[in-house]
Amino acid sequence: MQILTTVAGMRAAARQARASGKSLGLIPTMGALHEGHASLLRAAAQKCGAVAASIFVNPTQFGPSEDFSRYPRSLERDCEMLRREGADFLFAPLPEEIYPKGFSTYVTVEGLSERLDGRSRPGHFRGVTTVVAKLFDIVQPDFAFFGQKDAAQHAVIRQMTRDLNLPVNVMVCPIVREPDGLAMSSRNAYLSPSDRRSAAILSQCLQEIERTHRQGERASSKLISAGYQILQREPAVRLDYLEIVDPDTLLAKDTSSGQALVAIAAFVGNTRLIDNLLLL
Ligand code: PAF
Repeated sequence: MQILTTVAGMRAAARQARASGKSLGLIPTMGALHEGHASLLRAAAQKCGAVAASIFVNPTQFGPSEDFSRYPRSLERDCEMLRREGADFLFAPLPEEIYPKGFSTYVTVEGLSERLDGRSRPGHFRGVTTVVAKLFDIVQPDFAFFGQKDAAQHAVIRQMTRDLNLPVNVMVCPIVREPDGLAMSSRNAYLSPSDRRSAAILSQCLQEIERTHRQGERASSKLISAGYQILQREPAVRLDYLEIVDPDTLLAKDTSSGQALVAIAAFVGNTRLIDNLLLL
């Protein structure tokens, strides 16, 4: 695996891969890789002739009181996983490479960026779309792979890709879960043993909503109430949002008919976790 730390180096490596006729897949990450990322790497390896991953803890997507400085960083372990999963390139730039002195251009997807996590974390999606637009421009991948766990994030990125006519196919891979249902996330590492046990309630809440939906209930208010009842069992969990929305517009829906995404965000101790599920 070739490790590139400069924009020029990554551009040249990607150009060479494309020149040899290979399709190029990109997996943008912030590192602290887990099985969810491994599933993205495998999907990319299946679809593309060459695979690049990026590891960059992106300062612009963290709010001033968020966890940027303590976000888990584990470059050596991450490299082992990337090699094991057959990545060809790792792009691991320093912040000043991506945001040189005087940087002042941002990409904002209006509307969508203020919904769900964007409402709770003002400016978050502006940071995400800015860095992802830059990564798309530097690597020029044919395909980019994102996890369904970040449902609002991939909706915003899909919209940006359409609006800016970026020649990248955005691929979304299923959520990978722990045996008790907890969605895999780099932030799970923050959880104390007791918070870790409590955190399973998020997926149990979603499952209850899905069960109620399968029984024929379609009113969002009733489905959400069924979820609240489960959440009440865990007083350690502080809800940020639990909503039924359209997965493309992220706007709230009164009923779960048609396309519907149930999305939840909650604090378990000090750790903010998100999860979601599509109602079919
Ligand atoms: O999902 C993430 O890890 C990040 O938001 C991303 C897409 C790598 C942008 O920094």
